Amino acid sequence: MKMWDGRFAKTTDRLMELFNNSLPFDRLLIREDIEVNRAWAEALRACGVLSATELKKIVSALNAIERDCKKGSVRFEPGDEDIHMAIERMVIEKAGPAGAKIHTGRSRNDQVATDLRLYAKKSLQDIIDEIIVLQKVVLARAESDVDVVMPGYTHLQQAQPVIMAHYWLSLFYALEREKSRCIHAANTADILPLGSGALAGSGFVIDRALLAKKLGFAAVSDNSMDAVATRDFVLEALSVCSAIGILLSRYAEDLIIWSSKEFGYVELDDAWSTGSSMMPQKKNPDSLELLRGKTGRLIGNYTSLAATLKGTGLTYYKDLQEDKEPLFDSVSQTAMMLLVFSRVLSTIIINKDRTVKNLDPLLLATDIADYLTTKGVPFRDAHHITGDLVSHCIRKKVNISEISLEKLKMFSSRFDKDIKRKLTWNSALAGRDIAGGTGKNSVKRQIRKAKKLLGAAKP
Ligand code: ARG
Repeated sequence: MKMWDGRFAKTTDRLMELFNNSLPFDRLLIREDIEVNRAWAEALRACGVLSATELKKIVSALNAIERDCKKGSVRFEPGDEDIHMAIERMVIEKAGPAGAKIHTGRSRNDQVATDLRLYAKKSLQDIIDEIIVLQKVVLARAESDVDVVMPGYTHLQQAQPVIMAHYWLSLFYALEREKSRCIHAANTADILPLGSGALAGSGFVIDRALLAKKLGFAAVSDNSMDAVATRDFVLEALSVCSAIGILLSRYAEDLIIWSSKEFGYVELDDAWSTGSSMMPQKKNPDSLELLRGKTGRLIGNYTSLAATLKGTGLTYYKDLQEDKEPLFDSVSQTAMMLLVFSRVLSTIIINKDRTVKNLDPLLLATDIADYLTTKGVPFRDAHHITGDLVSHCIRKKVNISEISLEKLKMFSSRFDKDIKRKLTWNSALAGRDIAGGTGKNSVKRQIRKAKKLLGAAKP
């Protein structure tokens, strides 16, 4: 027998039961569902649907289910269609006729939306916490790598020298943006749908503001049809998760390349690498590869819900049951990815000598062009002159910083003695102390600001 089968003459097909059943995944909402049931029971008491004794019976039934949940001894029945039906069945079993009143004035439509919003809020907070952990690690990396000079890349071609700390700080500030996206997503979820009924609003005079307060929501929904139909908060959370994945994946990609023999800038700790079943010498950066690989899955989860929603009119259709697995998967994977990346970065070994040795002297070309412009040569001409010089160095296989002043003067009469001082990594870096630049003072300012931002973030 089913809770809703009064109007049915035939039983549901076994395959349909299996197809319809969401308990295998929505059991993850058990704590939220208990909490929502408790608040709903109190609201029903306040509007006179439940007597004080009935409320007590229901609350103690819910408490008992919660205790079982903590012990891991909740018993589901084959007939439980979803977590909401399962909890209602248990409440009826434990509280008797009082329990049969718990579903008064509500629908699973407003119930599931409420449970899921609570879950989304909590998971986004967990992700924010992991972002902060990673930011701390990134900041520590930056502080220890302020003296490491390395090539900065565009098109995977060496472009200009940068301080490695500058590279790490780029991640810090990107994570700061992800944090505010999470906060925005959590705010989107922070609205109470309960009291919206199936779609038209509950037929009972429920104090929704009080319900919102009890369940920790910032506001109540303004429109019952919107409240039961919308999954924008899930989409928002999935979008944040994909954005975080995409961000981490780009850094993982760099580090995978940097850990190769050809680059050799970094070495992953053994604890975050794996070996090959066949080639004994191998040490593979699997932690980083998985970060990159899982990002595809996060994007897939977003796409999957977006595709589901686009064809789903108002208000509730069973299509919406497909919102949960992508959400559960994305938030747990994202939190784990952030944690793994924190661990990888806090244990990674930096080969400082290698990054400096690998710097192509030609990376000073932009500084030479800039030098000529300070001597009055228009930049476009300076660019051309320096290009000639670069081409000469490549053809003659000579180091640009070792060319004599006399020779330099053959490319431009504006070259002077002071050019020699310009042709060092430190001078190139010192010339970039502009706000946001890779100069050492700029990097130190970035570190100071990052510390301030972290100090302001509540852990
Ligand atoms: N298990 C359903 C879901 O996750 C609960 C809502 C069911 N509502 C309904 N009208 N059948 O979406």
